[in-house]
Amino acid sequence: MSVEDVARAAQVAQVVCDADDEVLFHEERVQRGAHPFAYPALRALRNRAAVRVPGLGVVVSDAATARAVLLDTEGFSKVGPGSPAELWTPVLGPSVLLNMEGAEHAALRRTLAPLFTPSSVRALTATRSARLDGLAEQLLAGERVDLVPVVGEMAGSLICHLVGLGDTGDAVREQLRRAQEIVGLVRLHRRGLTRSQVARARTVLDELSEPARAAYRDGGTDTVPGRMRELGLSEREAMGAVGAFVLTGTETVQSFVPRLVAIAHDAGVLDRLLASATTDRWRGRVVEEALRTAVPTPVMLRSVTAEREVAGVRVRPGDRVVVVTISCCRGAGPFDPSVDSAPAVRQLWFGAGPHFCLGMPLAMAQIDSVLAALAPVAAAGRSVHVVRRTVARRVLIPAYRELVVTA
Ligand code: HEM
Repeated sequence: MSVEDVARAAQVAQVVCDADDEVLFHEERVQRGAHPFAYPALRALRNRAAVRVPGLGVVVSDAATARAVLLDTEGFSKVGPGSPAELWTPVLGPSVLLNMEGAEHAALRRTLAPLFTPSSVRALTATRSARLDGLAEQLLAGERVDLVPVVGEMAGSLICHLVGLGDTGDAVREQLRRAQEIVGLVRLHRRGLTRSQVARARTVLDELSEPARAAYRDGGTDTVPGRMRELGLSEREAMGAVGAFVLTGTETVQSFVPRLVAIAHDAGVLDRLLASATTDRWRGRVVEEALRTAVPTPVMLRSVTAEREVAGVRVRPGDRVVVVTISCCRGAGPFDPSVDSAPAVRQLWFGAGPHFCLGMPLAMAQIDSVLAALAPVAAAGRSVHVVRRTVARRVLIPAYRELVVTA
């Protein structure tokens, strides 16, 4: 290798390194804006595969250990002390997937699965992404566009349709505001909601799900409540699930898609991403790497149901395990679409095992829709630039409050 080759290699490495610094700089701001104390505290433990933190639980920061926990359904559960069920069952009722286990959980997933096949979600996103129409035209005409409300309305409209809520612009905005009110009550360091928070959340949820009762009573197969009725679940249980889907399915996408655009921009790959074909493997890797870097749901909780050892830490029934997904995923190194993720990390941002994200195909279809809506800008030979961004403060799902782009 000549001196010039070494200098050139160092230059390339510097560009990659600078891009990565830029990606992480902004992502850190997003995370710290949402959780100014819990995030740095949990990240400080990132070099320990598992460690017991009094008052919090056993904190897991290693991908292989996390995957082992999520796959061990005899030893770890989403029901029990310190689990998501403790947080959500008082508000949503007992039958909303994320607080179920065993045969009932599997039966409900099977019943809902047809709503989330790649072809179902493609059809749904194709007809319900009206807010994206004209996005490229606006940008090419020189307008500045804040992507956060654009993505929020698309994600909200799809979920509202899926659960039988009104999906006109105003109705969607109202549903999202209410869902955010409920999610906003949750803090990472608290195990549950106070009695008055539960009462408030139930009132909000009752109002939110009211329009979905018709979908349950009609019993059609194209909505979540209709399919739950088919399975013999009560109207009350179905209305809980309406809330659960609005909570899980909107903020995650609203958080991630603007961050994907920002990460690709900060890494210097946004133009190539927008010009790439949907079948391009590199494009898929960019989206995966952005998911691995952003990790829209930064932690997963489990309650211990049988004695186990978690990376050398003994756990007993009643203990809580806090899987810090963000540390597990970030441990695989900086954003780099040219290197495949290690098997333990692959798709961990969508979970693993029986609770693996049901909405993943819908999330991926929405990501494709937004990239497709921005693609004409690249096709016209123009670049998309992020010109202003503000992080959302004290929210459960880290996100930008605004991400303004121009062409
Ligand atoms: C980028 C977007 C998304 C991310 C990163 C994400 C992430 C996750 C993760 C990590 C889990 C597993 C939690 C655990 O095991 O404790 C999960 C479960 C779930 N997600 Fe998603 N999600 C996303 C979008 C969506 C969408 C659009 C929906 C829409 C309907 C959805 C519905 C669900 C449901 C219903 C579950 C519970 C599944 C079960 O317990 O069986 N998610 N998600």
